[in-house]
Amino acid sequence: MKKEIRKIVLTGDRPTGLLHLGHYVGSLKNRVELQDEYECYFIIADYQVLTDQLQKTQEIKNNIKEIVLDYLSVGIDPKKSTIFVQSQIPEIAELYLIFSMLVTFARVKRNPTVKEEIKSSGIKKPSLGFISYPVSQAADILCVRANYVPVGKDQLPHIELTREIAKTFNQLFKEVFPIPEPILGKTPILPGLDGQKMSKSRGNAIYLKDDKKTVEKKVMKTITDPQKIHLGDKGHPEICNIYKYYQAFFPEKTEEVKKMCQSGKLSCVECKKQLAKILNEFLDPFREKRKEFEKKPKLVEEILEKGRKNTQKRVKETSEMVKEAMRMRYENL
Ligand code: TRP
Repeated sequence: MKKEIRKIVLTGDRPTGLLHLGHYVGSLKNRVELQDEYECYFIIADYQVLTDQLQKTQEIKNNIKEIVLDYLSVGIDPKKSTIFVQSQIPEIAELYLIFSMLVTFARVKRNPTVKEEIKSSGIKKPSLGFISYPVSQAADILCVRANYVPVGKDQLPHIELTREIAKTFNQLFKEVFPIPEPILGKTPILPGLDGQKMSKSRGNAIYLKDDKKTVEKKVMKTITDPQKIHLGDKGHPEICNIYKYYQAFFPEKTEEVKKMCQSGKLSCVECKKQLAKILNEFLDPFREKRKEFEKKPKLVEEILEKGRKNTQKRVKETSEMVKEAMRMRYENL
């Protein structure tokens, strides 16, 4: 059979904790679909954790394991896709070094996402590694010569930088890299329990791994429409967090919930109870799969070793192409 040449997709996560429903609607769901059509690489970017969490390196190992289990439980299939750990591919660090010469310091400092992260995290003196992490991300993407990068909106400046680096390299030396394109998720951002963006650091997330009781508790304390206090008060679904969850997880029910809420017939408590039930039904198959995977002690290790080997093969090629293009291969001196 003719070997078809599939386009390459790369995306990934920092191993800073468990993945949550926001990750699922924004990215994981998309990945499960993409893996049938593309050659997919999913990077667990452990070095990127060091950019702002140097004091938590001892947690990285367990977080890597949990993320792989999260991936498997939602249907990322290691037979179809390659899952690998960033630090296990040393050529990525090498590319990062080379790429850092292809961008100006002024250009790196202009990145709006990095600026926002510095502001919101309260980091007073960001390290050089933090400010330049988008260059390291360009190395993550270009090491496998990816064509597409599925990401959230906040990552778009990094893809733009990656494209510039790829173009600069190709022009200066030789056409080695494709110019990768972002793929944006279709679903709008899911709010956390407090209405802000769902994130581990804000403590407002529902995790894929959460058990039934935890999901119920979290949903019941979610902030709804502040103007709807008593049963019978007319609600405003368009400003309600819970309604956004219905839209994301139970679209067939949204019209009914909207009408019932607006008329005042549906109390927030009842609405939340129903949502907790829906979410638990949604999460149940993931939980079951996760339990199965957790029973196999060596599974995660094996998957990551296979991922490392796969990625290593492709990245070695890239590294040789880069050195060749730069005339920095020194055999037969
Ligand atoms: N910065 C990304 C995030 O926090 C994670 C990431 C690391 C990534 N390397 C990547 C995403 C390469 C896409 C491509 O979500």
